Amino acid sequence: MPDNSSYLVVPSSVLWLLGFAVVSISILIIATMVLRARRLRSGMHAAGATEPTGSLLPEFEKNGQSAAASLVQWSPETLRHILAKELPDAQVIVVSNREPYIHNRKGDDIQLVVPASGLVSALEPITRACAGTWIAYGGGSADRLVVDENDRVEVPPDSPSYTLRRVWLSEEEQQGYYLGFANEGLWPLCHIAFTRPIFRASDWESYEAVNRKFADTVVAEARNERPIVLVQDYHFALLPRMIRERLPEAIIITFWHIPWPNSEVFSICPWREKILEGLLGSSIVGFHTQFHCNNFIDSVDRFLESRIEREDSAISYGGQISLVHAYPISIEWPPAHLGKLPDVAQCRRRIREKFGLAEDVKLCVGVERLDYTKGILDRFDALDELLKLHPEWIGKVALLQIAAPSRGTLPAYQQLYEECLHRADDINQRYGREGYTPVLMVTEHYSQVQVYEIYRAADVCMVTSLHDGMNLVAKEFVAARDDEQGVLLLSMFAGASKELLEALIVNPYDAATMGDALLQALTMSQEEQRQRMQRMREIVRDNNVYRWAGSMLLDAARLRKRVAVDRAVGAAPAAPGNVISLLDRKRVAAL
Ligand code: G6P
Repeated sequence: MPDNSSYLVVPSSVLWLLGFAVVSISILIIATMVLRARRLRSGMHAAGATEPTGSLLPEFEKNGQSAAASLVQWSPETLRHILAKELPDAQVIVVSNREPYIHNRKGDDIQLVVPASGLVSALEPITRACAGTWIAYGGGSADRLVVDENDRVEVPPDSPSYTLRRVWLSEEEQQGYYLGFANEGLWPLCHIAFTRPIFRASDWESYEAVNRKFADTVVAEARNERPIVLVQDYHFALLPRMIRERLPEAIIITFWHIPWPNSEVFSICPWREKILEGLLGSSIVGFHTQFHCNNFIDSVDRFLESRIEREDSAISYGGQISLVHAYPISIEWPPAHLGKLPDVAQCRRRIREKFGLAEDVKLCVGVERLDYTKGILDRFDALDELLKLHPEWIGKVALLQIAAPSRGTLPAYQQLYEECLHRADDINQRYGREGYTPVLMVTEHYSQVQVYEIYRAADVCMVTSLHDGMNLVAKEFVAARDDEQGVLLLSMFAGASKELLEALIVNPYDAATMGDALLQALTMSQEEQRQRMQRMREIVRDNNVYRWAGSMLLDAARLRKRVAVDRAVGAAPAAPGNVISLLDRKRVAAL
């Protein structure tokens, strides 16, 4: 008989339990790994992570784009090549509310202003490359003085390469369509910033009327029946269908530069069906992220009688198919403004001198329109947290906040302005002293060159939007840093966080963690900064704005060819919006 005391007798129930524990732990480990990979992919890693996480993610996985596509160096030449080869004789017409060049009266002179708008900085180099026509609201006080008898002016003024066609709006139209429906209704509706949208029937009427006015202008500017019309943003949800009715063969690509909310939130809008119907006049509806494409498709599914092919991201409505695709917007590479600036050391000296900053003070910067979606107050809170918990940083760090005045007649914006001044003042009272002001709040318009100089002078750039379609400040900061130094603090709710994984990704609603991230940024070694910045620069270089526009134009070309084939074989649909076969996304991406 064996001596039981010399070895352990394990009952079968215990063995079973042990087996169960081993299996559970394995599942837990695998689940943790999968979750971590997902969080990395969505850019939601903790601000405290020190490892440059992007290196864990193969390039070809990003944005669903193929590795082959990123081998192409996208440039103005690539765009011109696509146009010449794939879309010969195509007339490109851009439509946006904001014009790329504003002429203002300044005493007896006329001053030229390039507005603070991500949309403008992205579209301008594209329109230049395409030598197209840009139709926009002429809002400058001297705009009428410089146009010809057809309300056109050639721009850029120093070396004209495309036509700006101005549309005039009355004060009432501006009030109802722009300030009212677009900016008090759709803007807060689409951003999760907890500002209540306001919808007025009179604003809606004005919005409809102004969209019609722009449709008339597009038709008037079209040289033939088949232009490519690039409709920009939430000011023009009704325009695509209005154009489609009058130019059935046009290719209409509508890009929505802001987020699209989930269908529950979208249902708040009293004219939700009309907005969806309007947008579905487009051949392609574009968003920055797949997430917003999905929200849009869900909204259509909920409110319109339509057929949806989720696999192909296509919607068939009223006998017409619209593709719904993600095109992450970007900036030109290399940025033209960089060539006008001295080296980083000199930019640092100039900015420090201009704002009275001592040499040993670390400089954090925030640059944007003064808007409640940008998380400016939350950024102030993060600095407050840092100085409260780490008083050794008092006198050693300052935040320069450039906030371009925006939509200033609206109460929500006036209130934000007051609150920003008040909070900045409060922080300065508590931590400031002779020769040291922790928050420098500048509420004026800065030109792009001035902004780039500030980026180059900064130690940390804070992009803490509560919600943002993309946010080009994040990409501009990266582009400005050819010295491969500087840290980007980036909100997880900005579309850019899906691409720039090497930024310190933060939740702007969590002031304590953001304070920690700020500390991490301020103490980051030069080597780590370099590694992160190098990777982010590669991403912005490869996914530049020419790629954004080029992908849309290639999709447009494919649509046009498909229609030609359908025609040749006698298939029913005659209009580009009526494609039967969908685009081959993989092939388009690989071109
Ligand atoms: C956002 C919008 C743009 C707009 C910009 C500036 O980026 O998506 O369409 O041009 O803000 O806003 P503003 O109201 O001044 O044109």
